[in-house]
Amino acid sequence: ELPARVRIHEVGARDGLQNEKALVPVEVKAEFIARLAAAGLRTVEATSFVHPKWVPQLADAEQLLPQIIGLREEYPGLRLPVLVPNERGLDRALARGADEIAVFASATETFARRNLNRSVAEVMEMFRPVVGRAGEAGVPSRGYLSMCFGDPWEGPVPPRQVVDAGLQLLDMGCAELSLGDTIGVATPGQVAALLAEFDRAGVPVERLAVHFHDTYGQALANTLAALRCGVTVVDSSAGGLGGCPYAKSATGNLATEDLVWMLHGLGIETGVDLPVLVATSVWLAGELGRPSPSRAVQALAGP
Ligand code: HMG
Ligand code: MG
Repeated sequence: ELPARVRIHEVGARDGLQNEKALVPVEVKAEFIARLAAAGLRTVEATSFVHPKWVPQLADAEQLLPQIIGLREEYPGLRLPVLVPNERGLDRALARGADEIAVFASATETFARRNLNRSVAEVMEMFRPVVGRAGEAGVPSRGYLSMCFGDPWEGPVPPRQVVDAGLQLLDMGCAELSLGDTIGVATPGQVAALLAEFDRAGVPVERLAVHFHDTYGQALANTLAALRCGVTVVDSSAGGLGGCPYAKSATGNLATEDLVWMLHGLGIETGVDLPVLVATSVWLAGELGRPSPSRAVQALAGP
């Protein structure tokens, strides 16, 4: 019933650090990513090529990529995707050697407007040439979909609306679709209902990933519900870093350590060395000057 192995899509360096008030030096980011790879994570989202005024925390993407790209030789199979909103971002990412990208849409109009200054339809039109050109360059794309369960301005989001937006991302060529509970309001029954709606629409579960936030303490329960529906790709953030700067009430992402604790307890392989990962989050918390909110980090880090 549960999968034998889960691939963790680690978002701490991007989704986590984009939401930190402090600007983290590029050398610290490079070391963070190297330590995540050393802890056994094999998909480590690195940064964003968005407008630097919109996300100043990741304005150093050009400097960061050359510092980490060599990790792909050191750790065979390591993937270092980067977020790209438009063709300008794609050009910047390809020029620095990115070999995997992610575009990020919204299931709701209000968040599309706030996050990308466009309607949902305009966002899709903006992404189409990005995903197309990336594909021609041999660079796979992931599609993120935000606000899949609830939206701070619009309230609950109907599953059919989410599927309609998700299908557009898949149809334009995104290899994988990550379903985001950006503000962390979902409960397990809603997760199963949304995945059933995608199943009815003919989307193979192999193309779906889940991205939960722990605002109401539901992230692990929601993850387990998704695993029971056949999902095997789970997004999480080392130490529980981050949220989203353009979504009010978006607190931390599901912590990778909490996720790994549950998965290993269930006998599900991840390839992650938990003590090495905990040490990484403790080190980064020192750099940020505040403790990790992850329960597993707190329990395992010792006094
Ligand atoms: P806009 O103001 O509409 O931009 O913003 P524009 O297209 O009108 O262009 C204005 C100027 O910006 C132009 O310069 C462009 O060249 C430049 P000018 O000609 O005036 O000199 N420009 C750029 N410069 C550098 N890099 C670029 C770029 N694009 C345009 N890529 C835009 C549109 C998409 C740029 C802006 O809205 C943006 O950057 N938004 C990103 C916001 C963001 O990163 N939010 C966080 C993402 S996280 C998320 O969405 C949720 C997720 O984590 C999942 C979850 O947690 O649920 C994925
Ligand atoms: Mg997130």
